[in-house]
Amino acid sequence: MQRRRHVLDLDDFSRDEITALLDSADAMRELLSRSIKKAPSLRGKVVLTLFLEPSTRTRVSFEQAGKMLSADVINISGSGSSAEKGESLLNTALTLQAMHADLIVIRSPHSGAPYFLARNLQRMGVVNAGDGRHAHPTQALLDLMTMRHHIGELEGKRVVIVGDVLHSRVARSDVFGLQALGASVVLCGPPTLIPLDLLHGSEGESLPDVNIEHDLDRAIEDADAVIALRIQQERQGAGMLPSMREYTRRWQVTEGRYRRAKPGALLMHPGPMNEGVEIASSLAHGPGSQIEEQVTNGVAVRMALLYQLLTGGQEEAAE
Ligand code: CP
Repeated sequence: MQRRRHVLDLDDFSRDEITALLDSADAMRELLSRSIKKAPSLRGKVVLTLFLEPSTRTRVSFEQAGKMLSADVINISGSGSSAEKGESLLNTALTLQAMHADLIVIRSPHSGAPYFLARNLQRMGVVNAGDGRHAHPTQALLDLMTMRHHIGELEGKRVVIVGDVLHSRVARSDVFGLQALGASVVLCGPPTLIPLDLLHGSEGESLPDVNIEHDLDRAIEDADAVIALRIQQERQGAGMLPSMREYTRRWQVTEGRYRRAKPGALLMHPGPMNEGVEIASSLAHGPGSQIEEQVTNGVAVRMALLYQLLTGGQEEAAE
Protein backbone atom coordinates (compact mmCIF):
# COMPACT_ATOMS: atom_id res chain seq x y z
CA MET A 1 0.00 0.00 0.00
CA GLN A 2 1.31 3.49 -0.78
CA ARG A 3 2.41 5.53 2.23
CA ARG A 4 0.22 8.58 2.50
CA ARG A 5 0.27 11.39 5.06
CA HIS A 6 -3.33 12.55 4.74
CA VAL A 7 -6.78 11.03 4.18
CA LEU A 8 -9.12 13.68 2.82
CA ASP A 9 -11.62 11.66 0.76
CA LEU A 10 -11.79 8.34 -1.08
CA ASP A 11 -11.62 9.78 -4.61
CA ASP A 12 -7.86 9.18 -4.74
CA PHE A 13 -8.01 5.63 -3.30
CA SER A 14 -7.58 2.67 -5.65
CA ARG A 15 -9.48 -0.58 -5.28
CA ASP A 16 -6.27 -2.23 -4.01
CA GLU A 17 -5.67 0.41 -1.36
CA ILE A 18 -9.25 0.22 -0.06
CA THR A 19 -9.13 -3.59 -0.05
CA ALA A 20 -5.84 -3.60 1.89
CA LEU A 21 -7.28 -1.19 4.47
CA LEU A 22 -10.43 -3.29 4.88
CA ASP A 23 -8.30 -6.43 5.29
CA SER A 24 -6.33 -4.65 7.99
CA ALA A 25 -9.58 -3.47 9.66
CA ASP A 26 -10.82 -7.08 9.74
CA ALA A 27 -7.67 -8.01 11.69
CA MET A 28 -8.08 -4.99 13.98
CA ARG A 29 -11.66 -5.98 14.75
CA GLU A 30 -10.37 -9.12 16.43
CA LEU A 31 -8.65 -6.92 19.03
CA LEU A 32 -12.03 -5.42 19.93
CA SER A 33 -13.34 -8.78 21.10
CA ARG A 34 -10.42 -9.46 23.44
CA SER A 35 -10.75 -8.88 27.18
CA ILE A 36 -7.61 -6.69 27.13
CA LYS A 37 -8.20 -4.32 24.22
CA LYS A 38 -4.71 -3.00 23.82
CA ALA A 39 -1.77 -3.37 21.44
CA PRO A 40 1.47 -1.37 21.58
CA SER A 41 1.70 -0.54 17.86
CA LEU A 42 1.34 3.26 18.12
CA ARG A 43 3.19 3.76 21.40
CA GLY A 44 4.88 7.17 21.36
CA LYS A 45 2.59 8.61 18.64
CA VAL A 46 0.40 11.63 19.35
CA VAL A 47 -3.03 11.96 17.71
CA LEU A 48 -5.14 15.11 18.07
CA THR A 49 -8.87 15.20 17.41
CA LEU A 50 -10.22 18.66 16.62
CA PHE A 51 -14.02 18.59 16.42
CA LEU A 52 -15.63 21.89 15.48
CA GLU A 53 -19.05 20.26 14.97
CA PRO A 54 -20.96 17.82 17.18
CA SER A 55 -20.11 14.12 16.92
CA THR A 56 -20.56 10.99 18.96
CA ARG A 57 -19.54 8.06 16.72
CA THR A 58 -16.61 9.54 14.84
CA ARG A 59 -14.97 11.39 17.73
CA VAL A 60 -15.28 8.56 20.24
CA SER A 61 -14.23 5.87 17.79
CA PHE A 62 -11.09 7.78 16.72
CA GLU A 63 -10.22 8.22 20.39
CA GLN A 64 -10.90 4.58 21.16
CA ALA A 65 -8.97 3.43 18.07
CA GLY A 66 -5.92 5.48 18.96
CA LYS A 67 -5.94 4.43 22.61
CA MET A 68 -6.36 0.73 21.79
CA LEU A 69 -3.18 0.98 19.71
CA SER A 70 -1.44 2.85 22.59
CA ALA A 71 -1.24 6.26 20.90
CA ASP A 72 -1.64 9.34 23.08
CA VAL A 73 -4.95 10.88 21.97
CA ILE A 74 -5.76 14.49 22.85
CA ASN A 75 -9.26 15.81 22.18
CA ILE A 76 -9.87 19.46 21.37
CA SER A 77 -13.20 21.12 20.72
CA GLY A 78 -14.01 24.60 19.45
CA SER A 79 -15.40 25.69 22.79
CA GLY A 80 -12.68 25.98 25.38
CA SER A 81 -9.88 26.33 22.80
CA SER A 82 -8.33 29.59 21.61
CA ALA A 83 -10.61 29.38 18.54
CA GLU A 84 -13.16 30.99 20.88
CA LYS A 85 -10.83 33.99 21.19
CA GLY A 86 -10.72 34.33 17.41
CA GLU A 87 -7.59 32.31 16.61
CA SER A 88 -7.71 31.17 12.98
CA LEU A 89 -7.89 27.49 12.08
CA LEU A 90 -4.45 27.66 10.50
CA ASN A 91 -2.84 29.28 13.51
CA THR A 92 -4.50 26.72 15.81
CA ALA A 93 -3.17 23.88 13.63
CA LEU A 94 0.34 25.38 13.38
CA THR A 95 0.37 25.71 17.18
CA LEU A 96 -0.59 22.06 17.58
CA GLN A 97 2.00 20.99 14.99
CA ALA A 98 4.64 22.90 16.98
CA MET A 99 3.89 20.53 19.89
CA HIS A 100 5.09 17.68 17.65
CA ALA A 101 1.76 15.91 17.30
CA ASP A 102 1.88 13.32 14.53
CA LEU A 103 -1.66 13.53 13.19
CA ILE A 104 -4.74 15.73 13.44
CA VAL A 105 -8.24 14.37 12.90
CA ILE A 106 -10.54 17.26 12.04
CA ARG A 107 -14.29 17.70 11.73
CA SER A 108 -15.36 21.07 10.45
CA PRO A 109 -18.62 22.67 9.29
CA HIS A 110 -16.63 24.14 6.39
CA SER A 111 -16.17 22.05 3.25
CA GLY A 112 -12.48 21.99 2.33
CA ALA A 113 -11.08 22.80 5.80
CA PRO A 114 -9.03 19.53 6.00
CA TYR A 115 -7.61 20.19 2.50
CA PHE A 116 -6.54 23.67 3.60
CA LEU A 117 -4.72 22.21 6.59
CA ALA A 118 -3.10 19.45 4.53
CA ARG A 119 -1.71 22.11 2.15
CA ASN A 120 -0.31 24.20 4.98
CA LEU A 121 1.06 21.71 7.50
CA GLN A 122 4.56 20.49 6.80
CA ARG A 123 4.88 17.70 9.37
CA MET A 124 1.49 16.75 10.80
CA GLY A 125 -0.82 14.40 8.89
CA VAL A 126 -4.50 15.29 8.43
CA VAL A 127 -7.55 13.01 8.50
CA ASN A 128 -10.92 14.34 7.41
CA ALA A 129 -13.57 13.33 9.97
CA GLY A 130 -16.30 15.13 8.01
CA ASP A 131 -16.10 18.57 6.33
CA GLY A 132 -19.34 20.44 5.74
CA ARG A 133 -21.37 18.56 3.20
CA HIS A 134 -18.30 17.50 1.24
CA ALA A 135 -16.71 14.26 2.43
CA HIS A 136 -16.56 11.72 5.27
CA PRO A 137 -14.06 9.11 4.09
CA THR A 138 -13.81 7.04 7.29
CA GLN A 139 -17.61 6.66 7.40
CA ALA A 140 -17.47 5.36 3.83
CA LEU A 141 -14.72 2.90 4.77
CA LEU A 142 -16.75 1.51 7.66
CA ASP A 143 -19.78 1.24 5.39
CA LEU A 144 -17.70 -0.72 2.86
CA MET A 145 -16.31 -2.93 5.62
CA THR A 146 -19.83 -3.71 6.89
CA MET A 147 -21.12 -4.56 3.40
CA ARG A 148 -18.11 -6.68 2.51
CA HIS A 149 -18.42 -8.61 5.76
CA HIS A 150 -22.00 -9.68 4.97
CA ILE A 151 -22.31 -9.82 1.19
CA GLY A 152 -18.73 -10.46 0.15
CA GLU A 153 -16.91 -8.63 -2.63
CA LEU A 154 -18.92 -5.64 -3.80
CA GLU A 155 -18.29 -6.00 -7.55
CA GLY A 156 -21.71 -5.96 -9.27
CA LYS A 157 -23.68 -5.47 -6.05
CA ARG A 158 -26.59 -3.00 -6.06
CA VAL A 159 -26.50 -0.40 -3.29
CA VAL A 160 -29.31 2.14 -2.79
CA ILE A 161 -28.55 5.41 -1.00
CA VAL A 162 -31.81 7.08 -0.02
CA GLY A 163 -32.57 10.42 1.60
CA ASP A 164 -30.93 13.80 1.89
CA VAL A 165 -28.08 13.14 -0.54
CA LEU A 166 -27.59 16.86 -1.21
CA HIS A 167 -26.33 17.63 2.27
CA SER A 168 -24.63 14.29 2.85
CA ARG A 169 -20.85 14.07 3.03
CA VAL A 170 -21.38 10.37 3.69
CA ALA A 171 -23.13 9.84 0.34
CA ARG A 172 -20.34 11.54 -1.59
CA SER A 173 -17.60 9.43 -0.03
CA ASP A 174 -19.73 6.26 -0.24
CA VAL A 175 -20.17 6.80 -3.99
CA PHE A 176 -16.39 7.04 -4.53
CA GLY A 177 -15.72 3.96 -2.41
CA LEU A 178 -18.49 1.86 -3.96
CA GLN A 179 -17.39 2.84 -7.46
CA ALA A 180 -13.80 1.88 -6.68
CA LEU A 181 -14.97 -1.57 -5.57
CA GLY A 182 -17.22 -2.07 -8.61
CA ALA A 183 -20.68 -1.75 -7.01
CA SER A 184 -23.56 -0.02 -8.76
CA VAL A 185 -25.19 2.83 -6.85
CA VAL A 186 -28.75 4.12 -7.02
CA LEU A 187 -29.38 7.54 -5.48
CA CYS A 188 -32.96 8.04 -4.31
CA GLY A 189 -34.87 10.87 -2.63
CA PRO A 190 -36.80 14.06 -3.35
CA PRO A 191 -35.53 15.71 -6.58
CA THR A 192 -34.50 18.81 -4.60
CA LEU A 193 -32.19 16.68 -2.44
CA ILE A 194 -30.38 14.72 -5.19
CA PRO A 195 -27.47 16.70 -6.66
CA LEU A 196 -26.59 15.84 -10.27
CA ASP A 197 -22.87 16.39 -9.67
CA LEU A 198 -22.71 12.98 -7.99
CA LEU A 199 -23.16 11.42 -11.43
CA HIS A 200 -19.63 12.63 -12.20
CA GLY A 201 -16.18 11.84 -10.82
CA SER A 202 -13.66 14.38 -9.53
CA GLU A 203 -12.33 14.96 -13.10
CA GLY A 204 -15.87 15.63 -14.40
CA GLU A 205 -16.13 12.21 -16.07
CA SER A 206 -19.48 10.37 -16.03
CA LEU A 207 -19.69 7.57 -13.48
CA PRO A 208 -21.26 4.68 -15.39
CA ASP A 209 -22.66 2.85 -12.38
CA VAL A 210 -24.32 5.72 -10.53
CA ASN A 211 -28.00 6.28 -11.32
CA ILE A 212 -30.88 8.31 -9.94
CA GLU A 213 -34.34 6.89 -9.22
CA HIS A 214 -36.74 9.09 -7.27
CA ASP A 215 -39.29 6.34 -6.62
CA LEU A 216 -38.05 4.28 -3.64
CA ASP A 217 -40.29 1.31 -4.51
CA ARG A 218 -38.45 1.01 -7.83
CA ALA A 219 -35.00 1.92 -6.50
CA ILE A 220 -35.03 -0.71 -3.79
CA GLU A 221 -35.99 -3.59 -6.12
CA ASP A 222 -33.34 -6.35 -5.78
CA ALA A 223 -30.99 -4.17 -3.73
CA ASP A 224 -28.17 -5.90 -1.86
CA ALA A 225 -27.87 -3.03 0.61
CA VAL A 226 -29.84 0.10 1.47
CA ILE A 227 -28.16 3.07 3.14
CA ALA A 228 -30.71 5.53 4.53
CA LEU A 229 -29.37 9.03 5.19
CA ARG A 230 -30.33 11.41 7.94
CA ILE A 231 -32.56 14.33 6.96
CA GLN A 232 -30.26 17.19 7.95
CA GLN A 233 -32.82 19.67 9.16
CA GLU A 234 -30.08 22.05 10.33
CA ARG A 235 -28.77 22.42 6.74
CA GLN A 236 -32.07 22.63 4.79
CA GLY A 237 -32.70 25.66 2.57
CA ALA A 238 -36.20 26.98 2.02
CA GLY A 239 -38.42 24.75 -0.11
CA MET A 240 -35.97 21.86 -0.42
CA LEU A 241 -37.75 19.38 1.78
CA PRO A 242 -41.39 18.41 1.51
CA SER A 243 -43.08 18.15 4.91
CA MET A 244 -41.66 15.45 7.16
CA ARG A 245 -44.97 13.61 6.85
CA GLU A 246 -44.65 13.66 3.02
CA TYR A 247 -40.99 12.65 3.21
CA THR A 248 -41.80 9.72 5.48
CA ARG A 249 -44.67 8.60 3.24
CA ARG A 250 -42.55 8.54 0.07
CA TRP A 251 -38.98 7.84 1.14
CA GLN A 252 -39.03 6.02 4.46
CA VAL A 253 -37.67 2.47 4.29
CA THR A 254 -40.77 0.63 5.44
CA GLU A 255 -41.25 -3.09 5.96
CA GLY A 256 -43.17 -3.31 2.67
CA ARG A 257 -40.42 -1.57 0.70
CA TYR A 258 -37.67 -3.55 2.41
CA ARG A 259 -39.33 -6.78 1.22
CA ARG A 260 -38.71 -5.66 -2.37
CA ALA A 261 -34.94 -5.78 -1.79
CA LYS A 262 -33.01 -9.06 -2.01
CA PRO A 263 -33.72 -11.46 0.87
CA GLY A 264 -31.29 -10.61 3.66
CA ALA A 265 -30.47 -7.19 2.19
CA LEU A 266 -28.46 -5.01 4.53
CA LEU A 267 -30.13 -2.01 6.09
CA MET A 268 -27.70 0.71 7.09
CA HIS A 269 -27.67 4.27 8.43
CA PRO A 270 -24.61 6.37 9.28
CA GLY A 271 -26.36 7.93 12.27
CA PRO A 272 -27.46 9.89 14.06
CA MET A 273 -30.91 8.71 12.97
CA ASN A 274 -34.21 10.58 13.16
CA GLU A 275 -36.09 7.74 14.81
CA GLY A 276 -39.10 6.69 12.74
CA VAL A 277 -38.33 9.04 9.83
CA GLU A 278 -35.68 7.56 7.50
CA ILE A 279 -36.30 3.94 8.55
CA ALA A 280 -39.37 2.40 10.19
CA SER A 281 -38.47 1.82 13.84
CA SER A 282 -39.33 -1.87 13.61
CA LEU A 283 -36.68 -2.27 10.87
CA ALA A 284 -34.04 -0.01 12.41
CA HIS A 285 -33.90 -2.31 15.42
CA GLY A 286 -34.70 -5.50 13.50
CA PRO A 287 -32.54 -8.39 12.26
CA GLY A 288 -31.57 -6.82 8.89
CA SER A 289 -30.25 -3.67 10.55
CA GLN A 290 -26.46 -3.24 10.53
CA ILE A 291 -26.51 0.11 12.33
CA GLU A 292 -24.77 -1.08 15.50
CA GLU A 293 -22.31 -3.17 13.53
CA GLN A 294 -21.43 -0.07 11.49
CA VAL A 295 -20.46 1.63 14.75
CA THR A 296 -18.30 -1.31 15.84
CA ASN A 297 -16.63 -1.45 12.43
CA GLY A 298 -15.97 2.29 12.71
CA VAL A 299 -13.50 1.62 15.51
CA ALA A 300 -11.75 -1.14 13.53
CA VAL A 301 -11.50 0.94 10.35
CA ARG A 302 -10.07 3.90 12.24
CA MET A 303 -7.53 1.64 13.96
CA ALA A 304 -6.44 0.36 10.55
CA LEU A 305 -6.22 3.87 9.17
CA LEU A 306 -4.24 5.33 12.09
CA TYR A 307 -1.92 2.35 11.98
CA GLN A 308 -1.30 2.71 8.25
CA LEU A 309 -0.79 6.48 8.39
CA LEU A 310 1.48 6.47 11.42
CA THR A 311 3.60 3.39 10.69
CA GLY A 312 3.14 2.72 6.99
CA GLY A 313 1.92 -0.74 8.01
CA GLN A 314 5.44 -1.73 9.03
CA GLU A 315 4.81 -2.72 12.66
CA GLU A 316 3.11 -5.79 14.04
CA ALA A 317 -0.47 -4.57 14.79
CA ALA A 318 -1.57 -6.81 17.61
CA GLU A 319 0.86 -8.69 19.82
N1 CP B 1 -21.86 9.10 11.29
C1 CP B 1 -21.33 10.14 11.97
O1 CP B 1 -20.48 10.87 11.47
O2 CP B 1 -21.81 10.26 13.24
P1 CP B 1 -21.30 11.35 14.30
O3 CP B 1 -21.78 12.70 13.79
O4 CP B 1 -21.95 10.95 15.60
O5 CP B 1 -19.81 11.30 14.35
